[in-house]
Amino acid sequence: MSRIKAVKISPAENLTGTIKLPGDKSISHRAAMFAAIAEGTSRISNFGSSADCASTVDCMRSLGVRIDRDGSDLTVHGVGKKGLAEPSETLDCGNSGTTMRLISGILAGQSLTSRLIGDESLSGRPMKRIIGPLTEMGATISAVDGHAPLTISGTNRLKPLTFQLPVASAQLKSCVLLAGLNAHGETTVIEPVPTRDHTERMLRGFGVDVREVSGPDGRRVSVSGDARLQATDIQVPSDVSSAAFFLAAASCLPGSRIEMSGVGLNPTRTGIIEILRRFGSKIEVVDETVSGGEPIGTLIVSGGGPLGSQHNRVDGAIVANLIDEVPILAVFGTQTESGIEIRDAGELRIKESDRISAVAGNLRRMGADVEEFEDGLRVGPSKLKGALIDSFHDHRIAMAFAIAGLFAEGETTINGAESAAVSFPEFFDVLSSVSNG
Ligand code: S3P
Repeated sequence: MSRIKAVKISPAENLTGTIKLPGDKSISHRAAMFAAIAEGTSRISNFGSSADCASTVDCMRSLGVRIDRDGSDLTVHGVGKKGLAEPSETLDCGNSGTTMRLISGILAGQSLTSRLIGDESLSGRPMKRIIGPLTEMGATISAVDGHAPLTISGTNRLKPLTFQLPVASAQLKSCVLLAGLNAHGETTVIEPVPTRDHTERMLRGFGVDVREVSGPDGRRVSVSGDARLQATDIQVPSDVSSAAFFLAAASCLPGSRIEMSGVGLNPTRTGIIEILRRFGSKIEVVDETVSGGEPIGTLIVSGGGPLGSQHNRVDGAIVANLIDEVPILAVFGTQTESGIEIRDAGELRIKESDRISAVAGNLRRMGADVEEFEDGLRVGPSKLKGALIDSFHDHRIAMAFAIAGLFAEGETTINGAESAAVSFPEFFDVLSSVSNG
């Protein structure tokens, strides 16, 4: 992704059509990893087309797992919990925090040494949060001032841990639980604020006994070190975080109607739908069912009608359930009568880019009324004008501002648009296929 590609966006009257979204990124990562350490052969369909998911597949292959890929279908020949091989090359996690943090949890309990690297953005993201608990469990990890590259020397004598999450992070929770699968005893993660629970749901699908109890300090999730994973087949739901761009865009453009089927509707991910509806978006959910332990359904969004809410502040626990959707939510806020204020989102400063600063800076370039806070931002109702946008090599910034470009007067240029491939390689083609006028 070194080539800087600019994409020009013209204003749209509305969006119409049916969209096929990529497989959910979070679920795809977990499916490939868990199938790799399961006993037997697992088939995964609708595996995410993203560059991030490809990083996970490459890493698992480097750890000696045979994975056959045919488009979005994977066949993973699991090697069992202790069957990974010492990699002869570095494990390149690319731009993917989920790859690095979850694989680290798996590697902590293997008696082999591996080195994990990432791109410039990933090498700047905090890894101390996983190094602390994994070291306490007995792994030896060296890092560069708390950042990748990481060298992990695992052990098959990991100690179990009871760990309270210091930040609302599903990656950190999953990392510790995966290490717990190889510890001698029961490992418990306590999460004061619920985060996405795909790890818990999917481990159960692989036959692992994952225990959950709610207590005064939050939700306690426990696994035992004697757990074994049995191969299973997984149909990955379509990615609600990819749907979010079209939900926001179509809501704001009268005459729009977009339909997206098989979308993951796990309640720990659907904060965006709840907030858009609170602001008056017309989002219908039909054909609801459950697939592989995950709720899915068809989303139909139509545009028209005033948008806004007297309660325009988004904060507290719901923020963890829409953390990746804050950039598009801020763009949406410009098109509402009330504007929007998003707080308790300080984690956004350490995502693929500093997303608070990236969103605020780009919105200002488009003429929006924006106030930036350490933990979020306030966006007033704004008439946007076309501008030159910097994606900061961040997929969600590139896509959110492509949508902003649809609302703007004049042309918008997204620099570094190729970064969309990190989660949604087909994004710009899909966008142009549904844009009218
Ligand atoms: C993810 C968890 C979130 C999210 C990321 C994917 C996951 O990160 O932002 O895109 O798959 O567990 P954090 O755990 O750092 O909040």
